[in-house]
Amino acid sequence: MSFERVCSTDEVGDDQAHAAVVGGLELAVARDGDEFFAVQDQCTHAAIPLSEGEVVDCAIECWLHGSAFDLRTGKPTVLPATEPVATFPVEVRDGDVYVDTTRTLNGVTPS
Ligand code: FES
Repeated sequence: MSFERVCSTDEVGDDQAHAAVVGGLELAVARDGDEFFAVQDQCTHAAIPLSEGEVVDCAIECWLHGSAFDLRTGKPTVLPATEPVATFPVEVRDGDVYVDTTRTLNGVTPS
């Protein structure tokens, strides 16, 4: 495992993800209360950054056509996207968010 610091917890809004590049991957770091998540920052319907959309009910929405992805599983919960987005392990230490981009939690290979 190789966790890298991405941001402080304060930089992640309740309804807006924090965009970052870690290990060469574009990530959207989002929160649901005190729980933090990291997904590849790219809608699987088209290459739109998910971090530009809203975070609602533990899902991140794509602003272009309205797909939403469950932050826990990466699975789309709203069409038109049908493929899951890659999710990554997250740790919170001393108010900072760390992400391991060397593996995914849901087995999805980042594009
Ligand atoms: S580009 Fe995201 S739903 Fe179409």
